[in-house]
Amino acid sequence: MTHEELQSLCEKMTLDEKIGMVHGAALFKTKAVERLGIPAFTYSDGPMGVRPEYEDNAWMPKNLSDDYTSYLPSNTALASTFNTELAYESGKILGEETRGRGKDMILGPGVNIHRSPLCGRNFEYMSEDPYLSASMAVPYIKGVQESDVSACVKHFALNNQETRRNDVDVHVSERALFEIYLPAFRAAVREGHTMGIMGSYNKFMGIYCSHHPYLIDEILHKEWGFEGITVSDWGSIHDTVEAGNVGIDADMRVTDNFDEYYFANPLKKAVEDGRVSMEMLDEKIIHILNVMNSLHMLDGERKAGTCNAPSSGEKLLKAAEETIILLKNEKKLLPLDKKKLKKLVVIGDNGNRMHALGGGSAEIRALYELSPLMGLKMLLGGNCKVVYEPGYYTRVTGHAWGRDSNSQWIDFTAIKELTAEEIEELNRKYLESAKASCQDADAVIFIGGLNHDHDVEGKDKNSMNLPAGQDKVIKELLKVRPDMIIAMVAGSPVDMHEWLDDAHTLLYYSYNGMQGGLAFAKVLFGDVNPSGKLPTTLPLTLEDSPAHSLGEFPGNDIVNYDEDIYVGYRYFDTYGVKPAFAFGHGLSYTEFSFGELTASVKETGGCENGICTIPSLSVRVSLPMTNAGDRDGAVTVQFYVKPVESSVKRPLKELKGFNKQFLKAGETKEFTGKFDAYSFSYYDEERKCYVTLPGTYEICAAFACDDVRSVARVQIEKEYDISR
Ligand code: BGC
Repeated sequence: MTHEELQSLCEKMTLDEKIGMVHGAALFKTKAVERLGIPAFTYSDGPMGVRPEYEDNAWMPKNLSDDYTSYLPSNTALASTFNTELAYESGKILGEETRGRGKDMILGPGVNIHRSPLCGRNFEYMSEDPYLSASMAVPYIKGVQESDVSACVKHFALNNQETRRNDVDVHVSERALFEIYLPAFRAAVREGHTMGIMGSYNKFMGIYCSHHPYLIDEILHKEWGFEGITVSDWGSIHDTVEAGNVGIDADMRVTDNFDEYYFANPLKKAVEDGRVSMEMLDEKIIHILNVMNSLHMLDGERKAGTCNAPSSGEKLLKAAEETIILLKNEKKLLPLDKKKLKKLVVIGDNGNRMHALGGGSAEIRALYELSPLMGLKMLLGGNCKVVYEPGYYTRVTGHAWGRDSNSQWIDFTAIKELTAEEIEELNRKYLESAKASCQDADAVIFIGGLNHDHDVEGKDKNSMNLPAGQDKVIKELLKVRPDMIIAMVAGSPVDMHEWLDDAHTLLYYSYNGMQGGLAFAKVLFGDVNPSGKLPTTLPLTLEDSPAHSLGEFPGNDIVNYDEDIYVGYRYFDTYGVKPAFAFGHGLSYTEFSFGELTASVKETGGCENGICTIPSLSVRVSLPMTNAGDRDGAVTVQFYVKPVESSVKRPLKELKGFNKQFLKAGETKEFTGKFDAYSFSYYDEERKCYVTLPGTYEICAAFACDDVRSVARVQIEKEYDISR
């Protein structure tokens, strides 16, 4: 339909019909206007798969046999692949299943920045770095939207903590907003062409983000040209007139008094008495119709989706394989030789844990989920005895998150907790048993970390410490088996400093979907060469991380982001603070040797001889890279931009490109990068745009943020202003 046709459709609607389209008539659905052939619009969570069905008017799972779906790697896990193709493929599976289950908009991906290791929802977000977040979100969105369904990028903006998420007021500089917190949203709109954006619960400078005129009208709509649906988070609208007069289009909430939603009867009244204009309401309707039109919900043929396609399992295995990050392999104990194993001991709760049905709204009823224990057995095939030891007592309550945020959620915590004495006794037994099992094992693997009682919506972690006394268990076990392989499964950083120096084989990964356990086993046995990279710095201790050392976390009514632009590695790098593991770190079983990085600069346009054209800058770099080891493997070259001198304070260097390729043993390939004026810019608060100053810059080709291998200098002659 043309824009005019959509306009005329809108004109035909009664006020009641329009009102029905802008608020929930069920928990995840708006009203249809059958008379005019406009269907209801259906949402589903996201982002790790399509969420199981809930009753229309109660947070009561339907527990259907067809609830089971593909369980994708979490957004953090996906970002650790540094593989944009995998982001696209995962998004595509998600889109197909969203459509296959009859939904119109999937509530993901999450692109908020990892500001503190403590944020409960870090696992739903990609990274501490805006460039990496944007680079992964764009193909993911494209993948989703290929199936005639809409993505919904969340949470716009500044949802970087769960403590007081419903009303905390974020105070952050305009520069940090535009350099750190908004670029992934900007890319999602401008490059990913997302059709959906979700407003966040929190406030920004005293105003709720979901009806923030500056964020939503000024930036999102006017400057970025967004014409899709801006939906509230469930319950993030707080005022009919304020929100009615801002370009937020749908009011979704968590209660079943649908007619009382701000955009239901109260909005109808406000339109009738002129406090919200009909033009404003029509704007909302047009945004919704725009999306319905693009999804072929109004006419034409809508693509069919699918559910649980067999090929999805294969693709998600590949994705899971690349999420796994090898942090240390000092004694080259990995990969393990399957043939030499007669007894393998697996210790720790995450060896035997499934994570899909947890975390809050990101919960998934997975078609299947392979635990590490399952994965190991699948590959060992009975030729080796696999002994599982819990090692320590863990109590997982699953849906406990609901109590801390939206009280309407069902509390499934009726699992009896043991007394402190009982837990102590159990822990003693578990440890003794684990120690005994270890003695004669050919290999010992500890698989610990966190679970969705910690990485969870609605609350933040209290500390970065490993729960359930894992530090003590690890230290005790390392005494018996100094060769113990340690794997941490966690959606956010954990403190490992107590035993880090003694552990010489260490892996790390976030919740990585239904094939996670098999992928893990394949990496351990060398069927897959690990290639994951940390999408977020692992600080040695919480105090080392910038939100806690320079800024505030979690604040009170207000939280001040005083660390400003020095988020994540931008802080560690610039301030010379050594983390446990740097952003971008991740080893391989093979060795890669970096050749010489060369760069070429092309500046065109500007004013010459009185003739002016828009200036443009293009920088290309190229680097030969050799797999110098004897195993095939993939490697990511990271390109950081570093101003050699600057009149403006800048982070030491910033990620502005990366390239991942697979190299056979002995093979050499060319790794390239392409940069424009935006890549060299900072945000200028006075001029309200990104600015690239003339001067000398270095492009650093790196294996990790703290491991730069080859540098090329470029000279930029002109100045560039880039609209924000
Ligand atoms: C979460 C959103 C989610 C929504 C619907 C909210 O509590 O913050 O991310 O999409 O609920 O379940």
